[in-house]
Amino acid sequence: MAKPISLGVNIDHVATLRNARGGGHPDPLTVAKALVGTGMDGITIHLREDRRHIRDADAEAICAWAGKPVNFEMAATEEMVAIAMRLRPHGCCVVPEKRAEITTEGGLDVVNNRATLKPAIARLKEAGIRVSLFVDPEAAQVEASAEIGAEVVELHTGAYANGKRGELERLRRAAELTAKVGLECHAGHGLTFANVSPIAAFPEVVELNIGHFLMGEALLIGLPAAIAEMKRLMIEARVYLKS
Ligand code: PXP
Repeated sequence: MAKPISLGVNIDHVATLRNARGGGHPDPLTVAKALVGTGMDGITIHLREDRRHIRDADAEAICAWAGKPVNFEMAATEEMVAIAMRLRPHGCCVVPEKRAEITTEGGLDVVNNRATLKPAIARLKEAGIRVSLFVDPEAAQVEASAEIGAEVVELHTGAYANGKRGELERLRRAAELTAKVGLECHAGHGLTFANVSPIAAFPEVVELNIGHFLMGEALLIGLPAAIAEMKRLMIEARVYLKS
């Protein structure tokens, strides 16, 4: 039997929609609660430095709810490490962050930032938080992630989703390497109904984090139905896996 695969639903854009009108609707926590039982296995939120979508009060309420594991995406800054240690989500995914970017554009440069990342990882782990690093599918980045104490890497699927040639093969090799160096393998960014299956079929991948497509699809078929269909495709992709 293949290892089970989880779907982390990124609800940042629920907050984007709420913030567009400045009120309280739609509320990310209410949406998170409503998604229990739809195929969602965890909630992902990204508290950005500029608080453009998820705000501190959202992060606090969602981590306190704990109805499903919370994956807290954050930059490796002193401020974010302190917030994570206080809120104690199930996991933290460390991502690079530039103010001007529309979304997380590239993976973390773990190789050249070991000195800052290693102590941040150690502190988060001490607080009982599982630490993941969001990296491009490059051997050096995966190896460096294991060396500095991360437990998980999330492979950046953005270039694959944009149709870059050879990217699926690069992801496959990086996923295989995670198993060799003892890391749990997650993946995400830009995944849709059309491109999720080859990634979900990698035996090493045990979690996908998906946001924007699900929110867009929700306008057409509703969020519970979009999540259920994504989960169905993910499970179907693994039917022929042995281990
Ligand atoms: N994983 C990480 C680390 C991300 O930063 C994002 C985007 O917030 C996602 C997954 C989800 O990407 P998308 O919204 O394109 O599904």
